Amino acid sequence: MTPVGASSAEIRRAGHVLMTGGLVAFPTETVYGLGADASNPQAIKRIYDAKGRPSDHPVIVHVDQAQALSAWCRDIPAQAWVLAKAFWPGPLTLILKRAVDVDASVSGGQDTIGIRCPSHPVAHELLTVFAELKANLGQQRAGVAAPSANQFGRVSPTRSNHVRSEFTELVAAGMPVLEGGDSEVGIESTIIDLSSIDEGGEPALLRPGAISLEQLQTILGQPVHLGSKISPRVSGSLKAHYAPDTHLRLCASASLEEQLRAALASDGSDVAVICYRDLNIADPRIKVLRLPDNAAGYGRELYAALRRVDDLRVRQVLCEQVPTGSAWAGVRDRLSRAAAAFDSSSRASS
Ligand code: TXA
Ligand code: MG
Repeated sequence: MTPVGASSAEIRRAGHVLMTGGLVAFPTETVYGLGADASNPQAIKRIYDAKGRPSDHPVIVHVDQAQALSAWCRDIPAQAWVLAKAFWPGPLTLILKRAVDVDASVSGGQDTIGIRCPSHPVAHELLTVFAELKANLGQQRAGVAAPSANQFGRVSPTRSNHVRSEFTELVAAGMPVLEGGDSEVGIESTIIDLSSIDEGGEPALLRPGAISLEQLQTILGQPVHLGSKISPRVSGSLKAHYAPDTHLRLCASASLEEQLRAALASDGSDVAVICYRDLNIADPRIKVLRLPDNAAGYGRELYAALRRVDDLRVRQVLCEQVPTGSAWAGVRDRLSRAAAAFDSSSRASS
């Protein structure tokens, strides 16, 4: 159980807001989501409008249990059930073929659909309440479409106050923001594409996260490839994404102190540094954001740190490169995309 969390009454009220086509922000174990009834195209459009997100970028449908896969997907391969059994509820999104009578708006027009069953108790209760409300109307298909609750291209929220600061107008207009404390995982779910398996294709990892490639391969007993040959659109896969406002640059761990000295000399103003080891340099102009030296702890604190950097109002932040091991793949991916946002060549491509 989370120590801080929305009450059952608040969750029930939020369930009713979803039923009437409204938006609800809610916590998950990865990041906070901006949710809408996944069966209601107008409600989904509200998400895109609120985020400023291109309408051809698909959103993930959140469900209360694995059984719901049958309601949203078709031609479900055995691998999907195996992964759902092993990792749900939890930080894994499955990409499968969309059932023919599910509206294409949730998939940005693609014939696939992303599905996830989150483990956060508040998310779980919201999804259960929503499924009950739908069932009362005789509807067996209940899902909450939810991208991360941030403006398009920005850092995902891991605390309810992050959501409030991104969507001030919606919150002022009464949008529920369910409290769920700090997100435990802190980076978005791992995404695996299983949509071409029935045509002889292989599983493909579209977005690394807390569940690693190795874990997926071990459970499946088959190779999982990086990316997909016919890559569907994944906004989180744009080279430049997840960026703070402050100019972020990745630095090799071994040259971090040297680069900090150079930055201070050339910049003449304060500089921030995100690192996971003690620095061999002390200067009042260096604002140090020290993160844990293990991947899980680092991932949990990363997005809050990127937001804190913006609050410091420094001109740039140097970020120590993280280790190369597979446990760090999710964090490494987010950092390289954050840095790419300040690289003019990749900015043009996003
Ligand atoms: O951890 C998470 O996944 C969070 C929480 C709220 O569940 N959600 C999240 O949503 O990160 P979003 O929209 O910010 O990122 C979801 C990614 C997007 O990059 C989207 O393009 C991709 O999932 N996606 C969704 N459906 C897809 C599909 N049918 N095919 C390919 N990619 C898909
Ligand atoms: Mg996102």
